[in-house]
Amino acid sequence: MKFEKIAAPKGVREYLPPESQAFEWVREQLISPAKLAGYQLMELPVFEDTALFNRGVGESTDVVSKEMYTFEDRGGRSITLRPEGTAGVMRAVIESNLDRGQLPVKAWYSGQFFRAERPQAGRYRQFYQVGIEAIGIDDPALDAEVIAIADQGFKNLGLKNYRLEITSLGDAQSRAAHRVDLMKYINGLDLDEATRARAELNPLRLFDDKRPEMKSAMEAAPILMDYLSDYSRVHFEKVKGYLEDLGVAYTINKRMVRGLDYYTGTTFEFVHEDLGAQSGIGGGGRYDGLMEVLGGQALSGIGFGLGVDRALLAAIAENTLPVQSFTSDLFIIAMGEEFKGFALQVAAVTRKSGFSVEVAFGDRSLKGAMKAADKNGARFVAVIGESERESGSVELKRMSDGTSISVKIGELHKVLEA
Ligand code: HAM
Repeated sequence: MKFEKIAAPKGVREYLPPESQAFEWVREQLISPAKLAGYQLMELPVFEDTALFNRGVGESTDVVSKEMYTFEDRGGRSITLRPEGTAGVMRAVIESNLDRGQLPVKAWYSGQFFRAERPQAGRYRQFYQVGIEAIGIDDPALDAEVIAIADQGFKNLGLKNYRLEITSLGDAQSRAAHRVDLMKYINGLDLDEATRARAELNPLRLFDDKRPEMKSAMEAAPILMDYLSDYSRVHFEKVKGYLEDLGVAYTINKRMVRGLDYYTGTTFEFVHEDLGAQSGIGGGGRYDGLMEVLGGQALSGIGFGLGVDRALLAAIAENTLPVQSFTSDLFIIAMGEEFKGFALQVAAVTRKSGFSVEVAFGDRSLKGAMKAADKNGARFVAVIGESERESGSVELKRMSDGTSISVKIGELHKVLEA
């Protein structure tokens, strides 16, 4: 019987060697500035109670209303694969009482996220983010530092063709004042029922409507930035001042709408110029009401999520990936079955000194094994047989020039170091 092959699910992005090395490098560059700034790892579940996202991310968003992978588990509970990371971090902080300790709680995370979007280049149903959240302190200096950490991640990748857009979505008072005028404006528009319902949930969503007729209808709508309370205006001015102190360039985008409902105050996006339609390489902002909405104290928060897949595409577009391929320092070939155990021991001992060592497996001829060592790009090759086992020394062949020297097994690391 011949079995059919099974393909990966539609729209998922996976990384295999050698591309996975570039992916790993990108992910580490993006998150390393956060680690240096004292953020600590949170490993969270990839699935949560559906209510967390309904309430946390907001039912008016496309993410919640159209894109969640929601299913009933075997106990009849409604479960959703996480479409984003902030709600889960907040849930964990509240549940573990971290907000009763030292503030701000500073967390970083990295992993898969799931949105049932229409797949295209740079847009996947399973994608990767690294992110940070700083919870519990409302200080414009923190906003600027969070933005600068994200910016440093992109700079670590060597990216240049991107811009940082910032805006303020104001505090509750600003948004209430804006909402009055915005609803007046929206009520004067000829809208279909679904759009009107969305406006009732969150009128700001209409700024995000991609249909041309809606785009032009919203052109003259009142803009939130013009309604900022004194507190929000001063807060935003300070954030801008700190960004200038830090030398982080930005442009103001008064019409920015994020795809998640929890944002308040400082909000930002990084947009890459070479990526076409899926140009958002990262985004974030304040979410001062989220903790309370999720049943916790009324504490503020700010954070970002950076798209690892898109950052990798951006690094490819700008040609900034380092040339690197996995090559081992030493490749060991056993001259027959009876020396394999010894070859494994030599490999294990040498790895303890921090060198990468591979062993030839299977029953290849010496010639075949040498070919494999060459293909592998190994720096040195050692062939192990009877005399090596007896003498405790091996003949180390340097692949770059073909020269050999005899080295005691315990001293292999000295030659490999050179
Ligand atoms: P977001 O803007 O929805 O924010 O996602 C952050 C980044 O994830 C985007 O800028 C993009 O690079 C990447 N991304 C989103 N969807 C996809 C997709 N379908 N395929 C590939 N990449 C994608 C958040 O998720 C917020 N939790 C960020 C945040 C943290 N805000 C505050 N704290």
